[in-house]
Amino acid sequence: MKKISLLLLAGLSLNAYAQKTASVTLSNDTKDSISRHIYGQFAEHLGHCIYGGFWVDKSLPVPKQNRIRLDIVEALKKIKIPNLRWPGGCFADEYHWRDGIGPSLKRPKMVNTNWGGVVEDNSFGTHEFLELCGLLGTEPYVSANVGSGTVSEMSKWVEYLNFDGASPLTRERAANGHTKPYNVKFWGVGNESWGCGGNMTPEYYANEYKRYATYARDYPTAKLRRIASGANAKDYNWTEVLMRDVGPGRMWGLSLHYYTLPTNNWNNKGPATGFGEKEYFNTMKNCLFMEELVQKHSAIMDKYDPKKRVALVVDEWGIWTNVEPGTNPGFLYQQNSLRDALIAGTTLNIFNNHCDRVRMAELAQTVNVLQALILTDKEKMLLTPTYYIFDMYKVHQDAKYLSFKLNTPDYEMDGEKIPAVNVSASRDKAGKVHVTLVNLDARNNIEVSAELKDIVWKAVSGQVLTSAKVDDINTFTKPYTITPKAFNGAKRDGNKLVVNLPAKSVVALELN
Ligand code: AHR
Repeated sequence: MKKISLLLLAGLSLNAYAQKTASVTLSNDTKDSISRHIYGQFAEHLGHCIYGGFWVDKSLPVPKQNRIRLDIVEALKKIKIPNLRWPGGCFADEYHWRDGIGPSLKRPKMVNTNWGGVVEDNSFGTHEFLELCGLLGTEPYVSANVGSGTVSEMSKWVEYLNFDGASPLTRERAANGHTKPYNVKFWGVGNESWGCGGNMTPEYYANEYKRYATYARDYPTAKLRRIASGANAKDYNWTEVLMRDVGPGRMWGLSLHYYTLPTNNWNNKGPATGFGEKEYFNTMKNCLFMEELVQKHSAIMDKYDPKKRVALVVDEWGIWTNVEPGTNPGFLYQQNSLRDALIAGTTLNIFNNHCDRVRMAELAQTVNVLQALILTDKEKMLLTPTYYIFDMYKVHQDAKYLSFKLNTPDYEMDGEKIPAVNVSASRDKAGKVHVTLVNLDARNNIEVSAELKDIVWKAVSGQVLTSAKVDDINTFTKPYTITPKAFNGAKRDGNKLVVNLPAKSVVALELN
């Protein structure tokens, strides 16, 4: 008995000794804003993102407008998604927009060669997408077909959507139910043109971009924000050539795609659940690589565009795991765990911290595909841990960015180290300061002591997202295992804010 209590005491004091600490100094200087468009989403004709996700069978017993699922719309409205990218992805470079307008039953069918070889009936097309955006109160971001399309096809799509005068195309738009222009601003000129979008060299694509971008016209009610297809992860040469050969005058944004893999193997990415701490650690290391990517691509952009006119648009990001056993490998359906929430919190912190250059981003993908916000099973629907991160972080949208200095302990595994804590902070229009903190360490709480220079505050409140295990998930039978809870671990100590950040957690604080 005595021995046990001594051991317990030793354990307790060891724990006390092991208390890890971090410190942050937050300053009140606010030069840049965090664009709300960093919080964008992506919806491709892939698996059950559109069909069986947003767009369901008439017979499905859920609230609908047309065939758009309204429970999904309501959930997404709550987190204020600022833009929605569509129709792809790789699908975009095989998509011909005219196949998706006019009477539904007369629309031609096509094979979705990229994703499972299923037959696409084109019942969800341009008007349905814009109806969805209208319901969501979000801005459409349309990706045009460069790989297998034509300059004229893109040019006419822009006219069909944005011209306010009388032309054969606008008469057709009116006949299809929309007299007024839609004024779609965000246009992607191709997707992954180095790969599924045509396997082009950057030099060839730069020329193609200029042809397509020239004839994608600005109409009086819609000045376009043209986004060039950007690099695959660390292909810095792609960014270099695009910046050199196209340059700031001709593009609003240049994209970047990067997916976090649990393993480093595209043929066996690792499971979405049932992984150990080592795989978790490796995933987080790969997630943090986004910081290096953003820094290095930005440095190249700075060389050609010191005034930062061109936005770095990370229009595909998120974790990519093996598909759930028994599901169509071409549908990219994966579960979403606490690990995914930590990835979302960390990545959004990185984007916020680079908001001078990263002014738009889209998580891949909104419903039922890759790192989804929402999963559905027929009429059932659940909100994933990632969804809740977007809910907790929405306070940063269009807020003034607050810079900081961070000292964080490392999270170590088998001789490797990653920074355990990451942070971002902003001040909203009402003057409230929001700080979002992530502790990646799966075992240790970390006490963060924050010095708030020139920031006047009286009270702190917050929310925390965590769970017992990093691979905990929400399921259709237990949909609320991981949801944000009130956070009581932050207190004032003199002029300092002291936060006891639980292991493997995301905390969002509001200072009043
Ligand atoms: O998001 C899934 C796919 O990943 C997209 O279609 C493509 O652009 C990327 O390779």
